[in-house]
Amino acid sequence: MKKAAVLGASGYTGRELQRLLARHDSLALHVFASAREGSPAEPPELESEPPVEALDWERVAQCDGVFLCTPHGTSAPLAQRCLELGKHVVDLSADFRFPDAAGYRAAYAHEHPCPALLPGAVYGLTERAREQLHGARLVANPGCYPTSILLPLQPLLEARLVDRERTIVCDSKSGVSGAGKTPSARTLFGNSHENFLAYGLGTHRHQPEIRLHAGTERLVFVPHLLPVFRGILSTIYLAPAAGVRAAALRDCLRESYTGERFVRVFERGLPELRGVQNTNECHIAVGECGELVVIVSVIDNLLKGASGQALQNMNLALGLPEAAGLA
Ligand SMILES: NC(=O)c1ccc[n+]([C@@H]2O[C@H](COP(=O)([O-])OP(=O)(O)OC[C@H]3O[C@@H](n4cnc5c(N)ncnc54)[C@H](OP(=O)(O)O)[C@@H]3O)[C@@H](O)[C@H]2O)c1
Repeated sequence: MKKAAVLGASGYTGRELQRLLARHDSLALHVFASAREGSPAEPPELESEPPVEALDWERVAQCDGVFLCTPHGTSAPLAQRCLELGKHVVDLSADFRFPDAAGYRAAYAHEHPCPALLPGAVYGLTERAREQLHGARLVANPGCYPTSILLPLQPLLEARLVDRERTIVCDSKSGVSGAGKTPSARTLFGNSHENFLAYGLGTHRHQPEIRLHAGTERLVFVPHLLPVFRGILSTIYLAPAAGVRAAALRDCLRESYTGERFVRVFERGLPELRGVQNTNECHIAVGECGELVVIVSVIDNLLKGASGQALQNMNLALGLPEAAGLA
């Protein structure tokens, strides 16, 4: 039995990992701790929640892998310390999603705390990076919106089935858990319930991440806030390459994801949030609308968009079965 630590345990993704690891038969939750130095152990607010321990580096040192469920800027120094201890690290924040400090600075408007680590990180879009993830020391878990968009988009761009001269439009909607546990005016029940809004138009930090990993600047991303707790639905509008029809794009995706446990490409019908909530799955459909191809992609932001994919990645990094704890 290998041992895992979850740092930043009190947040949404930390609690999700606790639930997943409880069902894992070869990776046990050994440390479930705050990521704040000197933070006292506090009783959980709900009796049903597991307690969060104070951070104890000696106990972290006993683990094989560490999940960092912390905000960007906070994760990188923690990752550095874990790597010095010889641990495998999966970081759920954006700290290692850009291969260079300039890209990170442009997106996050501050200097990267540990730029020397950037070239060694693997961008963990699991189905697309499996070879690099085996035994990986440092994994950058992709953002939730980027996961829902890049899973369908990367194979199509790679197969040259998309007209790169035309702009790809990614219209995404997320449940409020995507913003984490800290209350804000936007995510308060009174403001999100019975409401629906766009935000981050032209400024959202996931846009440069998606552009980078799609390999094109001709891509527009607009996020929206849904009045539900969990789930992302992305509608992607693109012009196919000359002479190519939607069926060819669908075939390409079906071929790319044949045999994949967590990615399903629909033959007909459209996916819904309900089909993926509380699962680690991504459901994709491809349709045609006039001259455009329209792709609908859904995931659970807390699972395939965060903790579920993080566990897939950690399993590969530690040499465990990829789907362990996720069935
Ligand atoms: N929510 C999602 O759907 C989602 C999806 C993909 C990626 N992510 C990323 O995953 C990470 C965690 O997300 P989350 O939704 O779980 O966030 P969250 O609910 O806000 O929890 C954040 C965690 O980080 C800790 N933390 C906050 N500031 C800290 C600091 N300065 N020093 C040390 N610890 C600090 C918090 O501890 P305290 O309780 O002590 O404040 C809490 O345990 C973030 O980087 C987020 O961007 C989230």
